[in-house]
Amino acid sequence: DWTPDSFIESTIANLKEKLGDDKVVLGLSGGVDSSVAAVLLHHAIGKNLHCIFVDNGLLRKDEYQSVLDSYQHMGLNIKGVDAKSRFYDALAGISDPEKKRKAIGRVFIEVFDDEAHQVTDVKWLGQGTIYPDVIESVSVKGPSATIKSHHNVGGLPDFMKLKVVEPLNTLFKDEVRRVGKALGIDPNILGRHPFPGPGLAIRILGDVTPEKVQILQEADAIYINNLRSYGVYDKVWQAGAIFLPVQSVGVMGDERTYENVICLRAVESLDGMTADWCHLPYDLLAKISNDIINNVKGINRVVYDISSKPPATIEWE
Ligand code: XMP
Repeated sequence: DWTPDSFIESTIANLKEKLGDDKVVLGLSGGVDSSVAAVLLHHAIGKNLHCIFVDNGLLRKDEYQSVLDSYQHMGLNIKGVDAKSRFYDALAGISDPEKKRKAIGRVFIEVFDDEAHQVTDVKWLGQGTIYPDVIESVSVKGPSATIKSHHNVGGLPDFMKLKVVEPLNTLFKDEVRRVGKALGIDPNILGRHPFPGPGLAIRILGDVTPEKVQILQEADAIYINNLRSYGVYDKVWQAGAIFLPVQSVGVMGDERTYENVICLRAVESLDGMTADWCHLPYDLLAKISNDIINNVKGINRVVYDISSKPPATIEWE
């Protein structure tokens, strides 16, 4: 019978035998899958697991530091890499969603390849691939697609020539969560909403600037913290704020304002393939709207997205 404990025990034993004294490099994303994969590998090979966590400047507010802290707390051998300006430079002036994804994917590969080269004699690439990824239900927009499109251009980056170790590739998402819980991983990491690899870049319509990212981070943090304190965060499948680069007129004191719009998105879903918009309580929406408009400079209007998927998508880009 499958239990998290029996899975953990046999997986660690198998990893020990397979990897011996070899070194493994693994990219952490802050998400559930890569975190659980990393902790299993850590149990098997300890410091020979070299984790890399890249700050692409497109994460939620304070996310980089808090996730890095909790990984360090778990004892992982992890290196944080501040690559914000490399990503912002690559994104400058790009408005097309797919071009943004490509630019982010390319820079990620470059940064990761640089870091992987710093680990001498590394033999393996660890990945948090889960069973649904294996059977190719993978979103065409996912990171693997970005990596594939990169192949055709300039040949394989060196880290992709490594042997691959994927300790979760027989598990479904709920099993990964149960394994994570049994491993004692921070519930904040296990319970977090899905977050796209390209991050806030695809929640800023049009071109991305550090200033827009900062505004969106503030608004998004207010939104998510309110969902938590109202007790609905865990009932929502995914939520986030979107920065709309349109200006509308408002009034503040005696002054006329002409500023940008924040859209709130919250959906219920099983797998992201279809989704319904969440009927969040009006008093909660009212509080979020007030908090954002009163506290985030550059925003004078908040709207709520009442579109379901299909025909809309969850993300706006
Ligand atoms: P859509 O917008 O297609 O999103 O309804 C479905 C789910 O996929 C996530 N998503 C992405 N995840 N890279 C990712 O890693 C991407 O480029 C990407 N685009 C969308 C989205 O957040 C939602 O959970």
